[in-house]
Amino acid sequence: MTNSPDRNAALAARDLKHIWHPCTQMHDHETIPMLPIVRGEGAWLIDAEGRRYLDGISSWWTNLFGHANPRIAAALAEQARTLEHVIFAGFTHPPAIELAEELVRITPSGLDKVFFADNGSAAIEVALKMSFHYWLNQGHGEKTRFIALTGSYHGETLGALSVSDVALYRKTYAPLLLTPILAPSPDAYEGEPGEAPAQVAVRRLAELRTLLERHAHETCAVIVEPLVQCAGGMRMYHPDYLAGLRALCDEFAVHFIADEIAVGFGRTGTLFACEQAGTSPDFMCLSKGLTGGTLPLSAVLTTQHVYEAFYAEYSAGKAFLHSHSYTGNPLACSAALATLAIFRDEPVLERNRALAAHLARRLEPLRAHPHVAEVRQTGMIAAVELVADKAIRRPFPAEDRRGLRVYLHGLQHEALLRPLGNVIYFMPPYVVSEAEIDHLVAVATSGIERAVV
Ligand SMILES: Cc1ncc(COP(=O)(O)O)c(C=O)c1O
Repeated sequence: MTNSPDRNAALAARDLKHIWHPCTQMHDHETIPMLPIVRGEGAWLIDAEGRRYLDGISSWWTNLFGHANPRIAAALAEQARTLEHVIFAGFTHPPAIELAEELVRITPSGLDKVFFADNGSAAIEVALKMSFHYWLNQGHGEKTRFIALTGSYHGETLGALSVSDVALYRKTYAPLLLTPILAPSPDAYEGEPGEAPAQVAVRRLAELRTLLERHAHETCAVIVEPLVQCAGGMRMYHPDYLAGLRALCDEFAVHFIADEIAVGFGRTGTLFACEQAGTSPDFMCLSKGLTGGTLPLSAVLTTQHVYEAFYAEYSAGKAFLHSHSYTGNPLACSAALATLAIFRDEPVLERNRALAAHLARRLEPLRAHPHVAEVRQTGMIAAVELVADKAIRRPFPAEDRRGLRVYLHGLQHEALLRPLGNVIYFMPPYVVSEAEIDHLVAVATSGIERAVV
């Protein structure tokens, strides 16, 4: 690979001729560079001209142990030489069996059955359909609705988008979607002045109880992102909400779906966010970090009890009907096994605690910034909320695209930061060093200075 100065532009031009990118107004690329990445190394991405970018967002929250991780790469190579794929209906294979055993072992107790899919949104579709179908099989076909939290994001296929409440993604497609029942989020940022996060949780649980009193008879499940509503702006809430939610779901006979797609695998400080509430859901959706960020794979874990509601003679017509061609792909399962082996062999969560504490120390000075309303953190996720007016927390108008200024500033200074509107956040791979965290925070801080003027 030569590092000739126009390689980026040449690749970008070829890309833009044919490729339509996700989550992108393609017109933006008339002014915003399309960056061709040719290599990854630890927490770094390297472009076609040899420029480096510290991946502060783990490439859409997927990467845990660094790009081109040698241990995961070796497992993949070995699996590619052995069995790349096989139909997963009527057939199985050792990587899927071992992965299911391992997932059951490490997730909260009671989750004993594993259904594989191939991305986060697909896992949400599975969980929604499975919950609905459970109630149908139990003679409760009247349960057809879902309760979701305000500010939630669960993906962008029609079912997943139906239970999402981020206007940017939902608004246009609303006429196509199911209508969820929205419960107010326990998001601590939206609490009353002086209200502690635990108090917000109590108040929001009372509101959820009222909704359940009215709607439980027609509701299949409550779906939440445990502890952090990520795409909704890295909004964080107290674990008591999850414990209370579990109790309410039991009381009102509705399922609890925990979408740990973004927060699972150590992001929030524990292996799974639900652990912080000492609770276990009826369905847990996993993806992103599951393969360490190498291949698409997702899993929905559920209970033996749910499984049994589908288990009957074929003629009873109770089987769960959902399939994807690449369900349980052996390569992806091998990458996941290698990822989980790293968790077993290395003190990942302990190391993350030290890194998270370092990140917190470095972000501390930003609290005093006149345009920063809040600096918040849960484990290896930290966020800085920019506002136009700190006293009344008036946000900058979305059209200002202040976050975009931070993004562009980051690219000029060897950092990949991809703010969510006015929220600048940090979600680095776990292999990041303290010095690299210093770099990310320094670039973000100077980017914020440019963005708020
Ligand atoms: C909490 C959560 N759920 C679901 C999804 C959808 O996953 P995917 O992008 O793999 O479809 C995401 C993606 O960001 C997510 O953050």
